[in-house]
Amino acid sequence: MDYVKITPTTIKSETMANKADLIVGIQWGDEGKGKIVDLLAQQYDFVARYQGGHNAGHTIVLGGKKYALHIIPSGVLNPKAINIIGNGTVICPDAFIEEAAQFGDLSGRLFISKNAHLILGCHIALDQAKEARLGEKKIGTTGRGIGTAYADKVARVGVRVGDLADREGVIEAILSRYEQLCQIAPPKAEIASAVARWAEKLLAFAADTTQMLWKALDEGKKILLEGAQGTLLDLDHGAYPFVTSSNTIAAGACSGAGLAPKEIGRVIGITKAYCTRVGNGPFATEQENSIGDRLREKGEEFGTSTGRARRCGWFDAPLAKFACRLNGADELALMKLDVFDGFEKIQACVDYADGEPVYKTFAGWDKVAKARSFGDLPKAAQNYVAAIEELVGVKITLISTGADRNDTIYR
Ligand code: IMP
Repeated sequence: MDYVKITPTTIKSETMANKADLIVGIQWGDEGKGKIVDLLAQQYDFVARYQGGHNAGHTIVLGGKKYALHIIPSGVLNPKAINIIGNGTVICPDAFIEEAAQFGDLSGRLFISKNAHLILGCHIALDQAKEARLGEKKIGTTGRGIGTAYADKVARVGVRVGDLADREGVIEAILSRYEQLCQIAPPKAEIASAVARWAEKLLAFAADTTQMLWKALDEGKKILLEGAQGTLLDLDHGAYPFVTSSNTIAAGACSGAGLAPKEIGRVIGITKAYCTRVGNGPFATEQENSIGDRLREKGEEFGTSTGRARRCGWFDAPLAKFACRLNGADELALMKLDVFDGFEKIQACVDYADGEPVYKTFAGWDKVAKARSFGDLPKAAQNYVAAIEELVGVKITLISTGADRNDTIYR
């Protein structure tokens, strides 16, 4: 057999091929991906989610109206974008139906992979019961049945969106999941009526989303892959077991949306200027003191999905560097720099010695809020940004100085 020789021509056509761009949180989630996706979504023809479920949450304010997004991609607010919920996600049908209802008719603008798995009531009940049993050692899940639904997927007993087409079969499958996981199942009639509702609302959107994305790439359409949660919650690369049950990193988009690694183009990492974490697990730079309280209050660090208070602490450069390497981040968006306004001094972890963070102290500043250009930033803020860039080794191309779309500095 003849092997295809790699010549300068083949290399050239390869690099010119259309690729999908990707947004990924490089901390523990809640980095402000919502604002970035909202800013960028306007430029994309397709926006696709590839992992996670309705544990994710962001609020977008548009024309004075507030929208809560959990599983539906952020492109839904761009009337021209097509939104994809990929095969790597898990979908709670009733939560999806409620979320979709905010947007009126979505036909032709939203597609759900037939292979995405369903989160059932038994998954939610089991997730919550497991956490209750763990007591002090609990993971601090969102209680949305994410891990238990993915466990069924991996064990090859899960129920998929496409399965809803076979009413009788899916009712039996769901009954069996309840019996195995909770030892007790709701009456069959109750499941049958839920299945009828889900089939009506979900099958209308069901599609082979992998083929759709391939076709879009081939036609030169612009695709944005929207990561949920964050790199440090990745099932394989986070601090197990204090992780979520999916691969949140850029590579997760390949399996979770059906794209080849070489089809991923620009990777944009999102980080806050400090760190937050919701749920349990290691957090070396956490400030369980007045600094943490101040960050929480100024940064309004309360969960969008669960309302829980987020743990807050200083920026962790070694972790950010690790996360950027894992994702192959080409650039970084630095969010919430304005939260430091009024801080006399700011610290950032620059290294670890014997497992303990080594901090560098930076001068604080009065106000960056609403700054629209890098030159508008106080010198101390410019220094902080430059130091993070240097420590992490990735260019910061966007700085957010407020919640509004316009409070953004492009570099
Ligand atoms: P699960 O994803 O609900 O199983 O929760 C596992 C861990 O991930 C917990 O620490 C959650 O708080 C955290 N987590 C899950 N989704 C998000 C998110 O969207 N933002 C931040 N943390 C999250």
